Amino acid sequence: MSQAPFLEPLHAERVRRRVREIMERHRHSAIGLIGQTEIVELDRVNRHLPVRVLAKLEGQNPSGSVKDRLALYLVADAMERGVSSDDILVEASSGNTGVSLAMLCARLGLRLIVTVADNVSVERFKIMRAFGVEVVLTPGELGTCGAIEKARELGEQPGHFWVAQHFNQVNSFAHYETTGVEIAAQIRALEINTLDAFVASTGTTGTLMGISARLKERYPELEVVSVWPVDKIMGIRRPEGEGKPTIYDERRIDRVVEVRSAEAMAMLRRIAREEGILCGISGGAAVVGALATAERRRSESGSGTVLVLLPDWGERYLSLKEFEFAAREAKR
Ligand SMILES: Cc1ncc(COP(=O)(O)O)c(C=O)c1O
Repeated sequence: MSQAPFLEPLHAERVRRRVREIMERHRHSAIGLIGQTEIVELDRVNRHLPVRVLAKLEGQNPSGSVKDRLALYLVADAMERGVSSDDILVEASSGNTGVSLAMLCARLGLRLIVTVADNVSVERFKIMRAFGVEVVLTPGELGTCGAIEKARELGEQPGHFWVAQHFNQVNSFAHYETTGVEIAAQIRALEINTLDAFVASTGTTGTLMGISARLKERYPELEVVSVWPVDKIMGIRRPEGEGKPTIYDERRIDRVVEVRSAEAMAMLRRIAREEGILCGISGGAAVVGALATAERRRSESGSGTVLVLLPDWGERYLSLKEFEFAAREAKR
C-alpha cells in the first residue's frame, strides 16, 4: 500500500487511532455526526448542461461547517503530542474553525482560547462564547495575520498549545482521510464513472490540499480548481504574501479562478432562490468557480461532472452589510 501524504507514517497512524477512539467514545454525541455530508445537484443555477455540477453540503456538519473535520484531527494531533485536559488549546480563526473547536472542546471537556479579528461576523464569536470558550478579539485591520500572531504569542505560555491550522499538515490530512474518501464513495454510489473537476475556495488551503491528494489517486485526470478572492470575502484569502499558509502546495492545484465578493453574493442569492440552499459567501464564490469550470468543460468536451464544496450555511453571516438585501426584502 502506498504511503499517505502529509504526515510521517507513524504519526499518521497515531492520529488515525486517536480519531477512531474519540469517534467511538462519543459516537452518540455531536462528535459522532462529523462528516458523512450529502451531495446535491445544482441543476437550476447550472446553465451548462449536460455538464453536471454537484455540491457537497458541509454545513451539515454538527457545528455547521467543514471545519468540524479539521477540529477533530487537530484535537487528536494535540493529544498525540501530549496535551491533556489541564492544558489550554489556542487557535486563530476567521470563525468557523473556532466554532468547530469550541463545539468539540465543550464535549471533550477541554479548555480553549480562540483569537479572532474583531470584524468577522458577530454570529461567530457569539456562537463560540455560547460554547463556553474564551474569545480574544484582535484588530480587524490586521486581519487573520493579527489573530495568528496573537495565537502564536498565547501558545508560547506554559500550559498552552497552539494548534496552528495554517501551518499544521494534519489540516490537509483530515481532508485526505475523510472528505476525499467520502466524495469518491458518493460519486461511485451515484454511478458516475469519473469526476472531471473539483472546485473549492481557499483559506488555510487544507480542504483543497487533502481532497486533491485523495481524489487524484482515484481520478488521475481530475482538474483541481482553487477559488481566490479578488477583494474581501469572509473566511477565505489568497494563499500568498504575509501569513501564507505553509501547508499550501501549488502543485496540488491545476487552475485558479478569481472571484469578486459582489459576484459571490450575487451567486449566493441565485443559489438560495433557484436551488433552495442558503450557503455562506465563500460557497457562493466557489459556485462561481464551478460554473466557469462547467462552461469551459462544455465547450471543450461537451460533458463531464464538476463537484463544488459549500463550506457552511448563510445564517452565520446575516448581520453583515452584504446581507442588507435580505433585510430590505423582508420589509416588503
Ligand atoms: C467559510 C469558509 N470557507 C472556506 C474556507 C476555506 O477552507 P480551508 O481553510 O480548508 O482552505 C474557510 C476557512 O476558514 C471558511 O471559513
